Amino acid sequence: MGQLPPFLAACRRQPTTHTPVWIMRQAGRYLPEYRKVREKADFLTLTKTPELAAEVTLQPVRRFGMDAAILFSDIMTPLEGMGVAIEFCPGPVIAEPVRSAAAVDRLRPIDPEESVPYVQQAIRILRQELTVPLIGFAGAPFTLFCYLVEGSGSKTFTRAKALLMSEPATATRLLEMLADTVARCLEAQAAAGAQALMLFDSWAGLLTPGDFRSVALPAVRSILTRLRSLDVPLIYFPNQGATLLEDVATLPADVVGVDWRMPLDRARAILGPGLAVQGNLDPTALFAPPAELERRVDEVLDAAGPAPGHIFNLGHGIDRRTDPDAVARLVDRVHERSRRN
Ligand code: CP3
Repeated sequence: MGQLPPFLAACRRQPTTHTPVWIMRQAGRYLPEYRKVREKADFLTLTKTPELAAEVTLQPVRRFGMDAAILFSDIMTPLEGMGVAIEFCPGPVIAEPVRSAAAVDRLRPIDPEESVPYVQQAIRILRQELTVPLIGFAGAPFTLFCYLVEGSGSKTFTRAKALLMSEPATATRLLEMLADTVARCLEAQAAAGAQALMLFDSWAGLLTPGDFRSVALPAVRSILTRLRSLDVPLIYFPNQGATLLEDVATLPADVVGVDWRMPLDRARAILGPGLAVQGNLDPTALFAPPAELERRVDEVLDAAGPAPGHIFNLGHGIDRRTDPDAVARLVDRVHERSRRN
């Protein structure tokens, strides 16, 4: 069934021997082996030490046999090189948020080889070690904008959205600079060996459809258009984006990540046959009894349907309190239930 590994074939909507599966935040604190490495190094040190980043990237793939690995890093990683100091406590905290035209003027687009050489180095190490494809990633401009302006996580990102509404020219300039930085980072990741590239738009769902279309989407489009000439699949994940999918369908992406709030059959009907889908089990299902977890896995597979172009994933990142045995059950169930020969 083709030469490509299942994950890359599914990204290109080609038939596969089984539905490929990986999990957002698959390397992280729910894994005892991750917590062991974290005893010796804080999160930022992990992301900046290629050997350690590579080791924790490999942990879930080794334990569960996922069909893809995702580089251990963070969407905040490029910001330091732009001139923004970041801490993790454990969520990202920016002591001096960017809230004025003058603050935007002080930022600079980064050269990834100079600012984040450890990211590319981790990718090179991983390509030597991995037998499944490696996903590189970055934050989408609007999501990075949210943290930069707000200065930390938030349920509503009111300050960030208020800047967008009151100083649209400043906001647009910041989004364009972020788009340029993200594109450069992803180009560097692909050059180092990343085999697919994913944009996380965790806060896209906070925008009105009109603001999403006029402000967030153009920045995503400019990145994807620039990366289109690289021969790697492009994945866009607009979290809580069910009402935005008509617009998302116009992007030059290969795969759209779907959260659990919309069933995949409806998402596919809106996105059309030209896009693969990735998702979308509610991460809370991993806390249900085994039979209920398996029933919900099957429900996602059934909703995705028989057409090629489904990558199984959670609808958002895995909770740190998850039992690793439930993840093993999920991966095995996806593989068994979707086997096609
Ligand atoms: O998925 C993976 O396994 C790859 C690694 C990865 C991390 N963060 C590691 C991480 C990826 C792809 C991300 C993306 C990321 N980071 C997003 C987009 C995805 C999403 O969840 O919407 C966002 C919004 C961030 C920002 C961020 N980084 C937050 C909000 C936090 C705190 C999370 C928490 O649960 O406390 C982080 C820290 C972070 N990034 C951790 C990990 C494993 C926890 C670090 C630790 O203490 O060990």
